[in-house]
Amino acid sequence: MSRGQAVHVVVVGSSNFDLVVKAERLPKEGETLLVKNLQFFPGGKGANQAVAVARMGAKASLVGCVGQDIIGDFLVRGLESDGIDTTMVRRTPERATGCAFIMLFPNGNNCITVDPAANLSLTPTDIERAREVIERADALMSVLEVPVEVVEAAFRLARKAGKLTVLDAGPPRHCPLELLRLADVVSPNETELAHLAGEEVSGRVSAREAAEKLLSNGVKTVVLKLGSDGSMLVTPKGAKHFPAFKIEAVDPTAAGDAFTAAFTVEYAAGSTIEDAIRFANGAGALAATKLGAQPSLPTREEVEAFVAQRTGEKRNRS
Ligand code: RIB
Repeated sequence: MSRGQAVHVVVVGSSNFDLVVKAERLPKEGETLLVKNLQFFPGGKGANQAVAVARMGAKASLVGCVGQDIIGDFLVRGLESDGIDTTMVRRTPERATGCAFIMLFPNGNNCITVDPAANLSLTPTDIERAREVIERADALMSVLEVPVEVVEAAFRLARKAGKLTVLDAGPPRHCPLELLRLADVVSPNETELAHLAGEEVSGRVSAREAAEKLLSNGVKTVVLKLGSDGSMLVTPKGAKHFPAFKIEAVDPTAAGDAFTAAFTVEYAAGSTIEDAIRFANGAGALAATKLGAQPSLPTREEVEAFVAQRTGEKRNRS
């Protein structure tokens, strides 16, 4: 049995239909810009993380909401084909399924606009319905693409039940300190960290300072995603940087989701936080080498082989 198989993670989060195009640059206001290579992919930070958890060999349950439309059908079918428990993904007639509009630029970066739509119909009552599953699981992770009060209700329940709680702090938006304090681990990227800390973040030094500001406000542990500069662990004991694996980036979409999910599975399975971050760096790097959100998420075997090849050492599979 691989270490992930013993773990059950509940993800409270969003499901989106991603429309992806290649663009030379951002359009100016009032401009119609021709782009190319339109492709559709299943995405959404929550669903991506549930898929990434399942591909790590762990059991994944998603608590979410999609519309009663063919896009919702498509997304739920995809999740089920990855073995995810979707019994807590509610279908709503109130709103359409969430959609993300993603531009990929020649330098390998992207930019995303999202209408969360049905994801905003998720309520604390959905968390109450998921109570038993959350109480039986090992860990709960969530994102900020669903209403913040829902994330807070989920974290309160999970913490009361003694579960590991991990908050992927994307996308950048207002998040009460109270919620950040409920998370065992808060994992933002630089933009999200700047938003949470209310200060500019650019590079390791300012990132560390902003993370320390969160700690001084009662946040327990920050695991920062620094993209091509790797990641950084910031705790009251100090900060430690973990270099990135060098790769040819094709599409960074969902690389952060792959990272947070792999980290959560490894940490919940008993790895040290440092080992969980090293492994997660491998998952995030591999996700950036492929186009699309969910199609790019690697399996445990792929991450293990990649990390072993790059570090020259086999991970302990027990
Ligand atoms: O984290 C990547 C995701 O962000 C995309 O799949 C898109 O749906 C947006 O939610």
